[in-house]
Amino acid sequence: MNNANSYDETPYPFLSYSETHPDLLAAIGTVMGMKPAPIHQCRVLDIGGASGGNLLPLALVLPQSQFVVVDYSGRQIEQGKEIAQALGLKNITFLHLDVMAMTPELGQFDYIIAHGLYSWVPAAVRDQLLAVIKQLLAPQGIAYVSYNLYPGWFYMQMMREMMLYHTRHISEPAAKAREARSFIHFLAEGVKADGGAFGLFLHSYLQVLNKDVRVDATLLHDELETVNDPVYFHQFAGHAAAHQLQYLAEADFDTVFPSNFPPPVTAKLLEMAQDTVELEQYMDFLRNRTFRKTLLCHAGVPLRRSLSPEQAQYLHFAARIRPLSGVPDITGDTVERFQALNEATFSTNHPVSKAAFIHLGQVAPRTVSFARLLTTALKQVYPTLPDQATINQNAALLAANLLQAAVYSPMLMELHTWQAPFTLEIADMPVASPYARWQARQQLQVTNLRHERIRLDGLTHFLLPQLDGTVDKTMLRERVAAASQTGTLTPPENADLAQEIDLALQWLAQAALLVSSF
Ligand SMILES: C[S@@+](CC[C@H](N)C(=O)[O-])C[C@H]1O[C@@H](n2cnc3c(N)ncnc32)[C@H](O)[C@@H]1O
Repeated sequence: MNNANSYDETPYPFLSYSETHPDLLAAIGTVMGMKPAPIHQCRVLDIGGASGGNLLPLALVLPQSQFVVVDYSGRQIEQGKEIAQALGLKNITFLHLDVMAMTPELGQFDYIIAHGLYSWVPAAVRDQLLAVIKQLLAPQGIAYVSYNLYPGWFYMQMMREMMLYHTRHISEPAAKAREARSFIHFLAEGVKADGGAFGLFLHSYLQVLNKDVRVDATLLHDELETVNDPVYFHQFAGHAAAHQLQYLAEADFDTVFPSNFPPPVTAKLLEMAQDTVELEQYMDFLRNRTFRKTLLCHAGVPLRRSLSPEQAQYLHFAARIRPLSGVPDITGDTVERFQALNEATFSTNHPVSKAAFIHLGQVAPRTVSFARLLTTALKQVYPTLPDQATINQNAALLAANLLQAAVYSPMLMELHTWQAPFTLEIADMPVASPYARWQARQQLQVTNLRHERIRLDGLTHFLLPQLDGTVDKTMLRERVAAASQTGTLTPPENADLAQEIDLALQWLAQAALLVSSF
């Protein structure tokens, strides 16, 4: 195999992606009528998984599950092995392998992830990728494949091709990235933001380019990589079908439901589209979509394409929401509005649903199983346990409301299949995620126990690596004071150090960075 490639030269940024979490894939599969493998005992494969930035934190929180990273960049695979060893992880394997050389000996996987690969490899590799997914996917397995998409990517293609033209004589990666950036700045100086569609797009692209997450490696591998072939969704679905794989849903689950468009648009969409693929294609046109995170399963697996509330019984839910009225009327039939952090709202007058939503808001971001949520909410509404018919009626309404909220916005209602091992309680000697502690020694951004990227500030960044279960608040206070004196840490603004540390620990707990148990 070819040992030298652009990823050996410039490794891809070390990143985790919450939308690839087997928990989300399992939850979506469950809503769609599948029986996905329980995530605490499953096999997960990441194809083109670089140095394991995505799978390493999952291997830590799911110790009974097995994880395999495949990548043809030897440098990235070696880096991943070193990190796994440093973290003492035994349930993750790194394989230096080309997609073209993958064989069924790797065994079957319940979840297969290929993030940022499909559009960036030659057609033969794309084809082999889907063939490998078909071969290695367990019967109720779910694959995640992300890719660049038309029509939205036509705009980006313009930027890509102009940058490639301008840097055509430069081969050294850092110089190429620098010159590509400076060229976009040059264009933006010459074209005003209000100079029509081109100016508008150019200036919005410049803003993206200026973000600190857009490091050179991202620019080089995403926009400027030798191969970058977007597709229309119908082409991708056709390619998958040719490999006997079927479209399950999108990891951005709210985008799957046409009901999220205004009613006349929904009606017209349903009239125009003859099947799921056409419906998704028309929705891409409406959204001018640039990127998809598509979930696939084997062709022939029976799916439920409309919401079936009975599937809720297999799920857990979490919701950072609050009722908009100061004192919600739970037991009466007043309509209550619940608001998420993104300001999306959901209204219901169903007492048990109101009680359940309030409970979820109180314990967020922890998850609650449907059965427990129903019991808790029933207790709030009924002084004594009602008869079975009433319980069933309430269960059906609650299930429908939970799923409706989830498909409206994941910020309103998250779908889960488990409770990640984090605690909101602050122990005398708190323990932070060992993975995040390791990351925090090198950078400000860490992955939490919910697999989300979290950006730390000065004090939380200072505290996190120290939370190994041997340090209490008094010791933390002494260390913060000492570091403030030596200038290692900018002194916290609040003179009351104990209070400032309490607030920081609460913030870390809410950010799902404190460990309960594995
Ligand atoms: C854009 S990066 C994405 C990395 C990671 N999945 C992510 O999203 O952060 C693409 C990765 O695929 C790997 N890759 C590209 N072609 C490959 C092939 N033919 N076989 C195996 N890995 C490949 C590269 O080395 C690189 O790590």
